[in-house]
Amino acid sequence: MPGSAADRLARLADGYLVTQLLHVAVALGVPDALAAGPRSAPDLARELGAVPGPLHRVLRGLAAEEVLDELPDGRFGLSPVGELLRPGVPGSLQGTVAARGGLYYRPAAGLLAAVRDGGTPFELTEGRPFFDALAADPPRLAAFRASMADRSAREAGAVVAAYDVSGLASVVDVGGGPGVLLRAVRARVPSADVLLFDRPEVVAGSDLPAVGGDFFEQVPAGADAYLLSRVLHDWDDEAARQVLLTCRAAMRPDSVLLVVEAVLPERAADDPAAVRMDLHVLVLLSGRERTAGEYADLCEAAGLRLTRDVPTDAGVHVLEVRPA
Ligand SMILES: C[S@@+](CC[C@H](N)C(=O)[O-])C[C@H]1O[C@@H](n2cnc3c(N)ncnc32)[C@H](O)[C@@H]1O
Repeated sequence: MPGSAADRLARLADGYLVTQLLHVAVALGVPDALAAGPRSAPDLARELGAVPGPLHRVLRGLAAEEVLDELPDGRFGLSPVGELLRPGVPGSLQGTVAARGGLYYRPAAGLLAAVRDGGTPFELTEGRPFFDALAADPPRLAAFRASMADRSAREAGAVVAAYDVSGLASVVDVGGGPGVLLRAVRARVPSADVLLFDRPEVVAGSDLPAVGGDFFEQVPAGADAYLLSRVLHDWDDEAARQVLLTCRAAMRPDSVLLVVEAVLPERAADDPAAVRMDLHVLVLLSGRERTAGEYADLCEAAGLRLTRDVPTDAGVHVLEVRPA
């Protein structure tokens, strides 16, 4: 019966299908093909080079999840949810969907083994660490960058609205990925000297001033501010402490380090998005989300001091950290 516990559980169990329905739509370009208005499945199949029967069934599946609207004449259109699958629209989740349906999908099936016996699901299924695998595979690196850019686009405006960056003359974005947060800082303070720092294959071709390197070894020294957005959650305590130590070594006594992370709630229901992000890093990396107290302890172990915890409208917090 719809709405019953059994119905709810059955839909949860079919989550694997929903992830793939979304992935198929994005990979084929269905959202863009529907941007100008509703179309029939055979018409879409012709344009997208797909097999009409299976495509029609996938479109029906997406309509059942209210991602598409199924019209009385059988055509399909984008619902408000489906609109967010279009690339480039405000709030787009296209990159997010592509990463979950492709890059993250197979490793998630390694979760049981990792919970039973330990280890990182991604490494168990793919045979090497996450960032090394991306470096060797440009299409997967591009998919991960797109997912980071989607998320960061939702967070960056809220970060610079919540934390006053106006006095900063120089800013290094450590593990800055596509540099979305750094661009938001530069938009607020156009006079600031900004520098993106990430692995060489990630900064290659960036239109921002950029340096490639390894944040376990060294980061560029002497800036007013260092950003560490969604970096510490990728690593276990010892590795995260090492990243903080290299940042500490690069900082002047009056530099500030801005750690942008979700902060784990007391109870899962208080912030389900933070709990889901904790599961992504469990599947992909050795990291985890942390409570504010755990971040304070980590900073202390690296010669740093957590001085402020500033919540933002986007769920993430800005943890202001200074040399101890
Ligand atoms: C989860 S992403 C966060 C990206 C960005 N700061 C954001 O908020 O969207 C982590 C970043 O750390 C970078 N990274 C991983 N290992 C690194 C290393 N050893 N040295 C420098 N950057 C590294 C990755 O390439 C990736 O861009």
